[in-house]
Order: sequence, then structure tokens, then C-alpha cells
Amino acid sequence: MGSHAEGLGLNDAGLLRQHALIGGQWCDADAGGRCEVRNPANAALLGTVPEMAAAETRRAIDAAHAAFPAWAGKTADARAQVLRDLHALMLEHQEDLARLLTAEQGKPLAEARGEITYSAGYLQWFAEQARRMDGEVIQSHAADKRLLTLRQPVGVVGMITPWNFPSAMLGRKLAPALAAGCTVVCKPALQTPFSALALGELAQRAGVPPGVINIVTGHDAAAIGAEMTGNPKLRKLSFTGSTAVGKTLMAQSAPDLKRLSLELGGNAPFIVFDDADLDAAVAGVIASKFRNTGQTCVCANRIFVQASVYAAFAEKLVAAVRQLRVGDGLQGETEQGPLIDAKALAKVEAHVADALANGARLAIGGQRHALGGTFYTPTVLLDADARMQLAQEETFGPVAPLFCFTTEADVIAQANATPFGLAGYFYTRDLARSWRVSEALQCGIVGINTGLISTEVAPFGGIKHSGFGREGGKDGLHDYTELKYVCVGGL
Ligand code: SIN
Repeated sequence: MGSHAEGLGLNDAGLLRQHALIGGQWCDADAGGRCEVRNPANAALLGTVPEMAAAETRRAIDAAHAAFPAWAGKTADARAQVLRDLHALMLEHQEDLARLLTAEQGKPLAEARGEITYSAGYLQWFAEQARRMDGEVIQSHAADKRLLTLRQPVGVVGMITPWNFPSAMLGRKLAPALAAGCTVVCKPALQTPFSALALGELAQRAGVPPGVINIVTGHDAAAIGAEMTGNPKLRKLSFTGSTAVGKTLMAQSAPDLKRLSLELGGNAPFIVFDDADLDAAVAGVIASKFRNTGQTCVCANRIFVQASVYAAFAEKLVAAVRQLRVGDGLQGETEQGPLIDAKALAKVEAHVADALANGARLAIGGQRHALGGTFYTPTVLLDADARMQLAQEETFGPVAPLFCFTTEADVIAQANATPFGLAGYFYTRDLARSWRVSEALQCGIVGINTGLISTEVAPFGGIKHSGFGREGGKDGLHDYTELKYVCVGGL
């Protein structure tokens, strides 16, 4: 099972796990098949993971089901201690985890280090929240009765996580689930399983009991998803990924009425009003649009600029984009890594070609990068409009299209003219407008005068076709609990 990963220079080689985790055992697929994992920066083989499907997923659910009573029965503080220990281990091994993450995902090492801190932050936050999973005593409607509520863990939870934040999206689901007393079966994206498996390894070192965290790997996401949605022992599914797959999982979950959290696609508007600090707005676009090479669900997808500052803003943005250093994420100064795969590159190219064919003007970029592979040049397009594909769906790449607007009412109508509703951003110095626009935008998350909104302490999630459920913040724990009402009579 030797691989290029040996050249990654990990301090702790035990973090590169090439087996799945079921019931506390590192295991192979029943049929022995394996899937390759490659570095998107240079296509080098990093290693392989078991090619699992429905049977192994069923066993993982059985293991989680068997482990549930004991884990749910621990005191909140005992569960919190395990989460605190896992948080500490993640930070202790931050550099190794970041290198693994960059190797399989492509993002610059500085961003990968930040993702490990972000991911570990969920463990710490939900360790704290575990001790506040309180019910309440309700003023009774009858003299001989007392009423109260209890919060109890949902049970076994399935988690399907994406390749764009292979550590943080798992940390964000795992931490509240474990804090609440749930046990879990995770299925990381086929492109990026190693970050999840490293978390599994550290979880074992932190004392997470066998069966509480199970991780299955494999290409056959449909078979694994069907087993999760169809298995009555699994009581909730949390999915981050595309709207199309989210709808399929929801339909499959309907017969068993499973609880769902769906964090799906976005199409974020980013609005620059004429009273904005333009330099700050440019920095906000760079942070929001070009983070992870444009591969986040909350990336600015449509940048609306008020007519009177359009030319000045475009000039400043192009100057900033020209400075972005493209390269292998593991190498020094890189700010923009490769796209995850050839399909992602094809989508970016198709969006740019469609925009140019429909009247957009290229200000910078617009082509594959000289580095080859899936590298794409950071791009700014002018004169974008609603007919273009990039206005209708997320590009998921380093392409910043500038739209023009005249009035506040005009831009709110344009911003909301999408079935998606995850994040929205705007820059203004007008306090009254800050309130009006944040209330008018149809999305679950609003950034005012910032392009970075993500944190473990606040609720993350969307509306409309961007899904439902909230991850992070105090609401994030409730998504993994059932609220039970107890009525005591005969007093
Ligand atoms: C996502 O792209 O789904 C997550 C981004 C974030 O947590 O900031």
C-alpha cells in the first residue's frame, strides 16, 4: 500500500489511514476492492481506501446502533471531555492534518491550517454546549400537573460530507452529534477520504468508544446513501453537497420519516453599493470569491456593483486578482490551488464560454493556467447578466462576474431571483440600508462589510433550494436532539 503520501513528510505517519473504521476496527471492503486517491495538483497517487458499498454500510450502522445506549447514557461532561481531548489532538497534529488535507484537496496550506482550526473549533464549541442540552419546566395549565421537556439524542446519524472542506464539514456534523449522545456513520467524499480517516484515528486516541464513530469509504455513493436512507436503525441524515443529490436523499428518506439536515448549493449575491469602502469591498470579494479557489457553497457567485462605482471597483478588483499566486498548495506562497478534478474544470470553462458568448467582457484570466492539469487562471468578467449560466448556478471556481445595478430595489430583486438561498453579502456605510438589505435578502446567512462569515459559534445553513437545518451555534446541537414533553399528573 506504498504511495506518494510517504513523501508528504508527516510527523505522525499513523494519521494516514487507508482502511475504513467500523465498530472500532480498521477494515477492508468485503470484496477487497480499493479506490485510488490522487493529489489534484499533480495527479500523484496518495494512497487507496476500501471500495465499500451497502453491506459494509449496514454493518457500520449496526455498530453505531449497538454503541448508542452506552454513549447516550454517559454524562454530558464525560462526552464533552472526549470532545475536548479530540480538539486538543487536532491542534497538536494540525500541521500533519493540514498537509494531508492539501494533498488530497488542493487548497493552499495556509487555508488548510485554517480549516483544521475551524474544524477543531466545532469540537471545542460543542464540548461546551453538551453541558447545556437542557430541557425546561413549563408553567402548568392544571393545579395537579407538572410539565417539563427533555432533550434526548436522535440516535444513529448518517453523515455524507463533501470534498471542499473534508475536515471542517465533518467536524461540524460530528461534534454536535457526539455532544448530544448520538453515534455516527460517516461517508467522506471519494476524492478526499484521508482527512476524515485521520479524524477517526485521532478520535480513537481521544477515547471515543468503538462503534461511536464509523467511517465507510467507496465510490458507490448511491449504494451507501440508499443504505443510509433505507435503514430504519439510522434516525437522521446530515448531508452537505449538491441540491440534486439532497433532493434524492430527501425522497429516499421520506418512507422512514428520517430527520434531515441538508446543506446544499448556493448562488450568493455580493453587492457593492456606491457608499461602500471600495478597497474593503475588493478585499471582501477576494476573501469570499477566491477562498478555496472559488470552491465553497458560500462563495460570492454574482457580484453586483452600483453603476456609479462600477468602473472604479472593476479596476481595483482586477488589480487585486492579478496578484493572486496560483500553484501547488503544498508549495510556499500559493494562494490559489487547482480545481478538484476535470469535471470541475469543464464546468468553469463552460460558464466562462457561455458568458462571453452572451456579451460578457473578459477583464483578466479566462483560460486554463500554464501549470496545466486542473489549474485555472483567476478571472474577472464584466457586463454579466441574468441570462448567463453563471448567474443561474454556482460556478464553483475562480471566476468573478460583475453585474451592474442602479437602485437598492433593483439589486434586491436581482439578488433574490434565484431558487437558492445560502449566503449573501453587501458592502455599505449606511446603517439604515444595512438593516433593510439584510432583512430583504432571501438567504440563511448575511455578511455586511465582510466576505468571511463562517464560524463554529454561529448557525450556518440555507433556505429555499439551499436546504434546511443549522450547523454550528447553539441551534446546531438541537438538530441532533428530540424534544420530549413529560406531563406529570396526580399531584
Ligand atoms: C461550504 O462550502 O459548504 C462550507 C463553507 C464554510 O463553512 O465556510
